[in-house]
Amino acid sequence: MNILAIESSCDDTAAAVVRDGRQILSSVVASQVPEHVLYGGVVPEIASRRHVEAISGVVRQTLAESGCGYADLDAVAVTYAPGLIGALLVGVNYAKGLAFSAGLPLTPVHHLRSHIAANYLTHPELQPPFLALVVSGGHSHIVLVEDYTTFRVIGRTRDDAAGECMDKAARAIGLPYPGGLHLDKAAVGGNPKAFRFPKPTVSGSAYDFSFSGLKTSAVNLLHNAAQKGEQIPLADFGASYIAAVVRCLADNTIRAMEDFAQTRLVLAGGVSANSVLRREFGRLCRERGWQLYMPALHLCGDNAAMVGAQGYYEFLSGKRADTALNARATMGMENG
Ligand code: KG4
Ligand code: ZN
Repeated sequence: MNILAIESSCDDTAAAVVRDGRQILSSVVASQVPEHVLYGGVVPEIASRRHVEAISGVVRQTLAESGCGYADLDAVAVTYAPGLIGALLVGVNYAKGLAFSAGLPLTPVHHLRSHIAANYLTHPELQPPFLALVVSGGHSHIVLVEDYTTFRVIGRTRDDAAGECMDKAARAIGLPYPGGLHLDKAAVGGNPKAFRFPKPTVSGSAYDFSFSGLKTSAVNLLHNAAQKGEQIPLADFGASYIAAVVRCLADNTIRAMEDFAQTRLVLAGGVSANSVLRREFGRLCRERGWQLYMPALHLCGDNAAMVGAQGYYEFLSGKRADTALNARATMGMENG
């Protein structure tokens, strides 16, 4: 079964053709980074406009590269929530028009569910149930994936997301957007013990995260150093800060793995590309005899192949939309 998938939830316009939820026939991502870098972050209005300009070409290119015509497609899948509303609407409207005119069924896909599904493309043997840590620019969730379309969120951030926390510290030390990626590169060879950052605790939940205190302490450190005319070494700062973020993520995830008697852990979302996070979770899982699954690096960030993968399982579960489908800026994973 061939699914044409479309993704436009943030600043990537993406389309892909995926066979049986597991095989990528083609995947095209048009990034808007050069545009947003001028402003230090994603400008929603610009993102929407660029999606409008790019989407036809991206879909045409992915169809050409897949070798599929409309007659070879069985369904259209589209990201409909959560994300920037104006950006999501471009993909949703395009998918509705395409599905309607080609006479194909339309399946809506939750963005964070699709991040997890990037792992189905990378690891053909992976099947639920498992525990997932989803860390993106806007979300940080610990999730029990009971089956392909049944999710139980057991931990979430109370304030900033892990990616946001990386991006803000990176920006404060003068790195360009997307900060998390640049901080990862700049931290190579740095001393992770050079600076001490607080480990925020969250009352009332053993699995919830809080990153805003960490971010504020990094900004204060840089501010105080600037006032004294001191230079903060970039690599040491980056290595210490990333280590602090990874420590928060790892502590709660390990607790959840143990409490819910899980032995298979899946990482997902843009931050799962972080080199320290991948290495540290690799070590922690090896020590405990747990199986660790991470998306291939090119599937960690936003792309449509992962939408085609999750879309396949959503389609099989009977999920359909008609031309009344709307985009939603926020939506829980359980309800997606
Ligand atoms: O999943 P994603 O591509 O978009 C959202 O759904 O939000 O995640 C983007 C986030 C950004 O905050 C970006 O800085 C972060 O992922 N990111 C990284 C790395 N690559 C991307 N953070 C840390 N290390 C990286 N290598
Ligand atoms: Zn994403």
